[in-house]
Amino acid sequence: MGNSKNSSALAAMAGITNGDFAKHCLINGGAGTVTIGGYPIGKDMVTASIKVAQRGRKEFILNLGKEADEIAREVNKIPFFSRLVINIRVSSSKETREFAQKFSDLLEERPIIEINAHCRQAEIVQKGGGQGLLKRFEVLMEIIEALRFNDFKISLKIRGNAVNSDVLIPKVNQWHLDFLHIDSYKIGEIGTDLTLLKHYARRINFPLIGNNSVVDLKSAQAVLNTGAKIFSVARAARENPLIFRTLIKHF
Ligand SMILES: Cc1cc2nc3c(=O)[nH]c(=O)nc-3n(C[C@H](O)[C@H](O)[C@H](O)COP(=O)(O)O)c2cc1C
Repeated sequence: MGNSKNSSALAAMAGITNGDFAKHCLINGGAGTVTIGGYPIGKDMVTASIKVAQRGRKEFILNLGKEADEIAREVNKIPFFSRLVINIRVSSSKETREFAQKFSDLLEERPIIEINAHCRQAEIVQKGGGQGLLKRFEVLMEIIEALRFNDFKISLKIRGNAVNSDVLIPKVNQWHLDFLHIDSYKIGEIGTDLTLLKHYARRINFPLIGNNSVVDLKSAQAVLNTGAKIFSVARAARENPLIFRTLIKHF
C-alpha cells in the first residue's frame, strides 16, 4: 500500500465508507490507506444488497450495469490512488471480468481491489458471495485472475476463524495476491485474535493486514507485533474518523 511509513488503514463498512468519508479519514484523520465499499457487483450481489437494505442494514445500493461508473465517481474523490482500496462483493467471475474491464477503462491509475470473502449476510452468502466464496475456490481463483488481467492489485478479505487455515494458506500463497486482510473475530470472544494473525503472518509469503478491535495505540501495536504489515480499523473510525492520528503517532 502507498504510504510505507503509515501502517494504518480504514477498513470497509458498507453504507458508511464512501468517497467522502474515506477522504476525511485520509486527509484530516491521518489514515495511511483508506477503503471504500463494500460495493455490490453483478445481478446477484446488487439484488442481495437491496434485500439486506430492506431489512434495515446500511448498504451501498448501486444500479445494475452502472457499478463501474458509480464506484469511479467515489474513487475520484480520493486524491491518492496508491492509498486507496475498493472493497467489492462479487459472486461471478464473468461479471467480475466485465466490471474490471469497464472500471479499468474509466481510471488512469489502478487502485487496489479487495475481494470481500468476509460478509456473512445470508442474502449474499446464499448467492455465493462474501464468505460463500470460501466454499467456491475455483470461482474465487477466476475472480482473482479477472482482476489481475486488468492490472489491479488485489487484497482478499476474510474472517480468519471461518476457514481452515491449512486449506487456505497453500492456496493464497499460489494466487499471487498482494494482501491478505484478516478479520480475526472469534465467535463468542471480544478483541483481536493475535494468535490467529501470528499464524497467518508466519505462513503467507506476502503482506498481511490485521483487523478487529483496534481502538488505541496498544491494540494497534499488538496487531503489528504479530507480523502484520498494516492494521485496519472499522468501528472505531466510524465513531471517530480522526482516530488514525492518535494511532500512528508512535509508529
Ligand atoms: C457497519 C459495518 C459494515 C461493514 N461492511 C463491510 C464490508 O462491506 N466489507 C468488508 O469487508 N467488511 C465490512 N465490515 C467489517 C469491517 O471492515 C471489520 O472487518 C470489522 O468491523 C472488524 O473491525 P473493527 O473491530 O475495527 O470494527 C463492516 C463492519 C461494520 C461495522
